[in-house]
Amino acid sequence: MKIAIVGCGSRHQMFRDAVLEDYADRHEIVALCDSNPHRLNEAAKIVSQPGTNGVATYLAADFDRLIAEQKPDTVVVATPDFLHADYIVRAFEAGCDVICEKPLTIDLSRLKMIVDAQARTGRQVKVTFNYRYSPARTQIKELISAGTIGTITAVDFRWHLDRVHGADYFRRWHRQKENSGGLLVHKSTHHFDLLNWWLASVPQEVLASGRRVFYRPETAVEMGLQDHGPRCADCPVASSCLFRLDLAADENLKRLYREAEHEDGYYRDLCVFDAEIGIEDTMQAHIRYASGATANYTLTAYSPWEGLEITFQGTKGEITHRHVEVHGVFGGVRAHADEDAITTTLHLAGEAPRQLEVPKAEGSHGGADPVMLGYIFNPEGMEPDRYGRASDHVAGAWSILTGIAANASIESGSLVHIPSMLNARGIRI
Ligand SMILES: NC(=O)c1ccc[n+]([C@@H]2O[C@H](COP(=O)([O-])OP(=O)(O)OC[C@H]3O[C@@H](n4cnc5c(N)ncnc54)[C@H](O)[C@@H]3O)[C@@H](O)[C@H]2O)c1
Repeated sequence: MKIAIVGCGSRHQMFRDAVLEDYADRHEIVALCDSNPHRLNEAAKIVSQPGTNGVATYLAADFDRLIAEQKPDTVVVATPDFLHADYIVRAFEAGCDVICEKPLTIDLSRLKMIVDAQARTGRQVKVTFNYRYSPARTQIKELISAGTIGTITAVDFRWHLDRVHGADYFRRWHRQKENSGGLLVHKSTHHFDLLNWWLASVPQEVLASGRRVFYRPETAVEMGLQDHGPRCADCPVASSCLFRLDLAADENLKRLYREAEHEDGYYRDLCVFDAEIGIEDTMQAHIRYASGATANYTLTAYSPWEGLEITFQGTKGEITHRHVEVHGVFGGVRAHADEDAITTTLHLAGEAPRQLEVPKAEGSHGGADPVMLGYIFNPEGMEPDRYGRASDHVAGAWSILTGIAANASIESGSLVHIPSMLNARGIRI
């Protein structure tokens, strides 16, 4: 197929490299589009094959011309989250299918635009929920759908972002809800999608709380960093700050962001302790599913380690899954976990708990990305997907509705009923 990529920042590299390195015999990148001319040119240098005229490049304002001139079959959307809906709808209207980075979008009005355009045009969007494809998470799906622990009644799910990964959401566009929906949408879309998929159900009611307790000026004062500047590049206390991001020290960050910032003022290294940050770093939600199961969910963005812990209670027993991705951050440096840091324990009622062997795979996101890319770019070459891992606009929508409802609950202090929320906006999923 002929592919156009919109948004040539960090994440587009995964799609680009997959097409160029693994699926060049089946697909071709015909065009690139970005609002930033520097990043656009950098991306084009890599995509252009020796001996060809190179790849066509378009600034954001010329997206419609891109479609008219290059006639792509599929548009890959890898822009900041708040822009996904606009590009999806324009691609649909032009007769293209879409591969969209998560989250599908960030709020109800944009979701309605996507759902209505999909119904009108019949085009398809694949939302790239790579977490579904990690072998360890697929094993949980297999256990639950086989009825191993009976009917799932209650879930406890905790996700820990450490002080390197977690901090990164407070440095750039993610730090404002109008760009990302906050972490309950931007990040939790993965986690709520896993819950929907594991439980084979959808959320109905959400009661949530959220606060920013760590990435704020008071923490800078506690750490003796009160004289910090607006960004790391010219911060007077950078040398004593463990949260410093030195864009010039990393070739990829320098090329992608530092050398591009004069074009649009997109600074990748804003101070994580800024007063004007608008998203929470500590979030909890209680969720009731259509299946009757309930879940407690916690996300923190300043944990001493990174990973997840989840326990499923069922009528026949319990599954506990724990994945330590990073053991800890010491002096700003992460200690990555070894291979044995994933455990899944099956405890059937009346039996002793059993440690299950957890399947592993190579590649980014716990081996999930290469498997997902195979299903996207060469589905015929893969085994039939008996776990139903491919995600369309419906799965994409349900994965953000828990977070959108949680945001509404944080604002109102009340429980939010999702079907009523959708009805009030005329959204039919
Ligand atoms: N699935 C995952 O694990 C994963 C990981 C990282 C990022 N993502 C997603 O990928 C997307 C991109 O994230 P990123 O980290 O690459 O961000 P980024 O800021 O590095 O890149 C975004 C790019 O979009 C461009 N852009 C901004 N406005 C634009 C416009 N109007 N039109 C076209 N391009 C525009 C920017 O110039 C930039 O090059 C986000 O939606 C994010 O949630 C997913």
